[in-house]
Amino acid sequence: MRVFVAGGAGYIGSVCVEELLNHDYETIVYDNLSEGHRSAVDPRATFIEGDLSDPDRLMESLEKYECEVIIHFAAHALVGESMENPGKYFRNNVSNGLNLLDAAVECGIRKVVFSSTCATFGIPERVPMNETLLQNPVNPYGESKKMFEKILEWYHQIHRLNFTAFRYFNAAGAGDQFGEHHRVETHLIPNVLKVALKHSDHCKIFGTDYDTHDGTCIRDYIHVRDLAQAHILGMDSDHSGFYNLGNGEGYSVRQVIDTCRRVTGCGIEVLEEPRRSGDPSRLVADSSKAKRELGWAPQFPDLESIVRSAWDWHSRFPNGYSD
Ligand code: UFG
Repeated sequence: MRVFVAGGAGYIGSVCVEELLNHDYETIVYDNLSEGHRSAVDPRATFIEGDLSDPDRLMESLEKYECEVIIHFAAHALVGESMENPGKYFRNNVSNGLNLLDAAVECGIRKVVFSSTCATFGIPERVPMNETLLQNPVNPYGESKKMFEKILEWYHQIHRLNFTAFRYFNAAGAGDQFGEHHRVETHLIPNVLKVALKHSDHCKIFGTDYDTHDGTCIRDYIHVRDLAQAHILGMDSDHSGFYNLGNGEGYSVRQVIDTCRRVTGCGIEVLEEPRRSGDPSRLVADSSKAKRELGWAPQFPDLESIVRSAWDWHSRFPNGYSD
């Protein structure tokens, strides 16, 4: 089966492509390299440099390789940036994404697997969070993903386009060859590991006055390889639906930093800063639906394995990708 991976040069996309190829799926990567890296594309994949804003190139690529399934990772994903530049998020994540869905309908694609986010829920009514919770995003990033989720439902109803949408919690860790390298890094684990790599002399904690056991935010970290596994299951399933993906276990920012200290053996200096805007205090997934309906079974559920995997990759590639 041929799989078309939009955004396959980015962090989660590159690890998913590696897993697809390990499972013998022929893989076509379509990426504009704005966030992704050419050297993050597995050499066994076919690479097309292209933008979602270019419907002709999308159609031509899907037709040329006779793809059956699309996995769609190509989106902007920074909450803070979306609060400053909402147009960038709605234009790419919604409007450009529509070109991909129209091309999918035109080419008779069997299934679209979509990267959504727990940010579609906003401040959750309760944790752990299952799929029935009210979705009330508190930033344009989450709103853009929620809009695309609705569009998928309508395309399913009207065009019979099947979809699986995964709402990721906090992706972390690395594949065998590919890992997390953002040109501007805002995520907790890579920023903490930078201190162990001696690229920074301290990391920051944003907010120590949350209503949590140690005052710092709680997140559900999920290994990127477990996310990749879910995509393969979602792609092969004949059903359409939404699934929350996390481990059901929350860790505070301080617990993450302590785990990084243990795994790296480095004393990591910390600077306590005020809250970052838009951060909910607790986000923890209830992923029983994915386990029940898709047979998803995370292989690396504990935080220590996740941090160890990230640390292995960052130690092997301390400067990330060269491009
Ligand atoms: N944090 C720090 N210091 C840092 C970086 C982050 O204290 O240097 C804190 C944040 O304030 C937050 C937690 O660590 O409380 C996790 O922050 P990340 O930036 O690693 O991840 P987020 O939870 O903000 O965001 C992730 C994804 C988004 C997605 C969101 C869902 O990156 O794409 O989860 O809430 F939308």
